[in-house]
Amino acid sequence: MDGVIIPDHPLIQHKLTLLRDKNTARKDFREIMEELSILMAYEVTRDMTLKEVKIETPVSMSTGKKIFGEEVVIIAILRAGLGMVSGLLRLLPLARVGHIGIYREPDTLNPIYYYKKLPVDIKGKDVIIVDPMLATGGTAVAAIEFIKNISEAKIKFVCLFAAPEGIKKIKNNFNDITIYTATIDHGLNSNAYIVPGLGDAGDRLFGTE
Ligand code: URA
Repeated sequence: MDGVIIPDHPLIQHKLTLLRDKNTARKDFREIMEELSILMAYEVTRDMTLKEVKIETPVSMSTGKKIFGEEVVIIAILRAGLGMVSGLLRLLPLARVGHIGIYREPDTLNPIYYYKKLPVDIKGKDVIIVDPMLATGGTAVAAIEFIKNISEAKIKFVCLFAAPEGIKKIKNNFNDITIYTATIDHGLNSNAYIVPGLGDAGDRLFGTE
């Protein structure tokens, strides 16, 4: 699908299955989500630009390649996005991290931002928005809109489970967002949960179920 990247790797498939399993204990659930986020970070950083540098090995002079000038900002959508931050930071240890809490006002469906704390001046930076579950796409679209309004950042949206409805919503609203997801599931149930999904990601991460 155009603009949607689904890394195809046995480790990702395996770990998704463990996350889905309702018998996976909280400690394991957190660790597996972190591991999946590391694997997704590997894919998300694939287009980073490299520059050749001179180095000296213990044996000889040589050249190598290094990533330069990519200032990455990770923005976690609360709450479940928190479960992905440590994994991304394992591969992007210098990234700065922002947080956005959003819900939809039930009558008007207007986004209500109940928490926002972003690194100052994210103009022109590479922004990676994370939320493990792309369900209706409502909060994802609101978060992307918010970032677009305050910066000209290049935005990638990274989740683990996506519903076709959520992907469609992002695509209908923006034509310049790449979505990274570990799987596209069947769809949403009447409570807007992803089917088969993994249930409530925040509850399973934080033990609030
Ligand atoms: N949020 C979740 O935590 N799970 C879903 O299935 C959908 C949204």
